Amino acid sequence: MSARPDWRVFASSDALAEALADDVARALGAAIDRRGQAFLAVSGGTTPKLFFRALSRQKLDWEKVTVIPVDERFVPETSPRSNAALIRNSLLTDEAAAARFVPLFHAAETVEDAATRAAAALASLPWPLDVAILGMGTDGHTASFFPDAANLPALTDPARGGFVLPVHAPSAGEPRLTLPLARLMEAGLLALHIEGKDKRRVLEAALEPGADKPISAVFAHARKPVPVYWTT
Ligand code: 6PG
Repeated sequence: MSARPDWRVFASSDALAEALADDVARALGAAIDRRGQAFLAVSGGTTPKLFFRALSRQKLDWEKVTVIPVDERFVPETSPRSNAALIRNSLLTDEAAAARFVPLFHAAETVEDAATRAAAALASLPWPLDVAILGMGTDGHTASFFPDAANLPALTDPARGGFVLPVHAPSAGEPRLTLPLARLMEAGLLALHIEGKDKRRVLEAALEPGADKPISAVFAHARKPVPVYWTT
């Protein structure tokens, strides 16, 4: 199965952030109506901050929402590189302060041990995800599916079980923890948020026939069109 990008083009980062926050809040609200709770996974990095602020102001039954990171750097929350710290500071404020947050990072000797502990903590969450928002790097990585990750085939295997995998990739900076593609693909709403002309070019190239970037796998295996929220 393979899905097309469904481009959503915005005049500014602010306009994109507001529209994405509206769409995510609507999907979370529908999940609460349907099953009494909602389950959201969000990416880290630099792009999502405005979106997080916009989402944090949405009126929603936030105490019924569970939030997890799509992926995490193997650093404690005191590090400026922690996605958990970004999510706590930018998303879990205002209205969204009532949401439940489950981090991927655990203080363990190795990232493998941390992944085992994170997977145990995530096992009891209300899978499947209702919403997963991905980012993308200019190398074509998404989540922590780095092109030079030794376990890239497992990370992007659409049929794989499990909740959290460790990642070692020289280009990633530090070891990582990530949801595998199989869990992301199950999300009711799976969307990509990218900004800038460079990332648009990278995505378009990754979607050419025969292209083999980690982000290509998302579109190759997605079950429906993937909305791509983009602005210059
Ligand atoms: C992370 C991510 C990652 C991110 C891209 C884009 O922890 O780095 O979740 O997949 O979405 O690297 O990052 P930027 O938004 O900083 O360009």
